[in-house]
Amino acid sequence: MRSRHLRLGVNVDHVATVRNARGGRYPDPVRAALLAEQAGADGITAHLREDRRHIVDDDIQHLMRDLKVPLNFEMAATDEMVGIAVRHKPHAACLVPEKREERTTEGGLDAAGGHNHLAPVVKRLKDAGIRVSLFIEADPRQLDAAVKLGAPVVEIHTGAYCEAEDVATRARELERIVKAAAHAEEIGLECHAGHGLTFDTVAPVAAIPTIVELNIGHFLIGEAIFGGLESVIKRMRALMDKARSDAVGRRSA
Ligand code: PXP
Repeated sequence: MRSRHLRLGVNVDHVATVRNARGGRYPDPVRAALLAEQAGADGITAHLREDRRHIVDDDIQHLMRDLKVPLNFEMAATDEMVGIAVRHKPHAACLVPEKREERTTEGGLDAAGGHNHLAPVVKRLKDAGIRVSLFIEADPRQLDAAVKLGAPVVEIHTGAYCEAEDVATRARELERIVKAAAHAEEIGLECHAGHGLTFDTVAPVAAIPTIVELNIGHFLIGEAIFGGLESVIKRMRALMDKARSDAVGRRSA
């Protein structure tokens, strides 16, 4: 699947991180989500973690009530989270691996090795009308496993690309993403990507024609301290749009 328009999903988890540092209600991730919507986000992503370290249950309820754009509910494949997803019926649910001691989602889901555990979770979410995506490494084996699980969407982990410390490693990691995104199209999966993306790293990923959505959070929320959330989102949107239209132009030249 290809699209000229590359969707931007804004992840508001870290607005909640700042709120929870003090307790209380400020800053409100729902207010940030509504502002992101106005600034050009095509969707909002929120991860309800088992330990509720940032987003809490009420945030999900308020996001479902107030958002006009789709909510992508990031979740671990647990009974508790499936129950919450099925109750709220967000547009999409992205299954991620979750470890209590990690600071952020460190790696992709093992869709191949976890088939027996994941299959009933994917089925319950799909039966509830939720579009299921699996957050996986740029590995063809994991993409093939997503198809076997019946997931229509994958989100490719861009962390290794973003965190690469030298040019050669970054180029190698980008190539893995390019190949995985092409493979996704061949086997009929919708392809998203995200994790660690910044103004400096977004363009080469945005240029990949078979990626239709990027989910970006930490950098946008951090950068908003300096530039304001609206202008930071607009700048990210503009960088994504330019990279995509330049790439379309190069291919048709
Ligand atoms: N996509 C997924 C599945 C994630 O787990 C995260 C991090 O919560 C993101 C995208 C966004 O990553 P970042 O906050 O580094 O932009």
